[in-house]
Amino acid sequence: MSGYKRNIMITGGAGFIGSHVVRLFVDKYPEYRIVNLDKLTYAGNLANLKDVEDKPNYVFEKADICDFGKMQEIIRKYEIDGVIHLAAESHVDRSIRDPFTFARTNVMGTLSLLQAAKVCWEEDLKGYDGKLFYHISTDEVYGALQFDGKLFTEETHYQPHSPYSASKASSDHFVRAFHDTYGMPVVVTNCSNNYGPYQFPEKLIPLFINNIRHKKPLPVYGKGENVRDWLYVEDHARAIDLIFHKGKIAETYNIGGFNEWRNIDLIKVIIRTVDRLLGNPEGTSEHLITYVTDRKGHDLRYAIDSTKLKTELGWEPSLQFEEGIEKTVRWYLDNQEWMDNVTSGDYQRYYDEMYKNR
Ligand code: NAD
Ligand code: TYD
Repeated sequence: MSGYKRNIMITGGAGFIGSHVVRLFVDKYPEYRIVNLDKLTYAGNLANLKDVEDKPNYVFEKADICDFGKMQEIIRKYEIDGVIHLAAESHVDRSIRDPFTFARTNVMGTLSLLQAAKVCWEEDLKGYDGKLFYHISTDEVYGALQFDGKLFTEETHYQPHSPYSASKASSDHFVRAFHDTYGMPVVVTNCSNNYGPYQFPEKLIPLFINNIRHKKPLPVYGKGENVRDWLYVEDHARAIDLIFHKGKIAETYNIGGFNEWRNIDLIKVIIRTVDRLLGNPEGTSEHLITYVTDRKGHDLRYAIDSTKLKTELGWEPSLQFEEGIEKTVRWYLDNQEWMDNVTSGDYQRYYDEMYKNR
């Protein structure tokens, strides 16, 4: 017996959202042991967790979720009773260039993790009692909305368009199939676009903040008219905490901020905020906006209806968008060293060396 009340494995904990979830759980639940399992791909960075790495209830395991044997070993070693699964390839543009990696990690990796949990939990004396496999997914599995005010609900049919969303949709189906077939306790959440500290600067918001700072062009896909629904990452982490503890088994919950923005409008807010915080006169960086060829199959609009989560579990976003963007821009401007390490790839060379012989 580990002596901990719960032993929770968070996959992808060195990534953007995962690092916020790990931090929240490690700090809020000293009675839980939190095992952060991450392969440390280009998107994983242990510098995101500097403030928790010495906590006694935190453990890091560098491993690939596709390694079925290793997943069983880790689940047994730490007596894992809860999995919060965030590890994934997460960038749409990369999925268009290299769909195989997405199928491997997002589909086969999730299946490997599910099967490892199944094998280990079924051999446990208590079986599935007290266990939970919580799968983190995206609103992109629902496809694209028109400009008609409709929102994605938990009943919306899956219609993924990009290799990324197709791979996430497939993994969601496997998770639900493990409940329906084997009785595994699962829960799935589909969240809208997240923003905040520690996001890899290939995604719109950190990329643009960094480019403005370096006076580099801001590549706006197409006409900049696509709409995304933005949620501050710590609000997502709070929702995950709530659903992990209070969500109903086999349910799906949508998570979103009722906060839709046309890309071009959002970009102008970012430009204004960065210029203001850098002490530049308003409008200084607007000329950096550069319209470029549209993303292939670019989904027009995403918008999440998170009424169910509000009504059943009482969750609401805590931050207004203006406040969230201000905090986010400030964080990236104050953490240039983090940004420089990430953009130069230095962090990867450092951790590759550190884990080379393990
Ligand atoms: P991210 O790319 O920042 O982080 C992914 C993490 O997974 C990295 O630390 C990476 O090293 C790790 N990883 C990748 N492949 C792995 C493998 N084979 N084995 C072990 N670890 C591996 O992603 P993110 O933006 O933090 O997204 C986390 C999860 O949330 C993903 O499942 C994503 O689909 C989902 N999601 C993201 C958003 C968003 O706006 N970012 C919105 C909704 C849902
Ligand atoms: P992104 O952050 O990649 O998230 P997602 O594709 O998962 O929604 O992109 C957000 C929106 O911004 C999306 O409509 C594509 C657009 N975009 C650009 O216009 N330029 C860019 O350089 C990037 C990365 C995204």
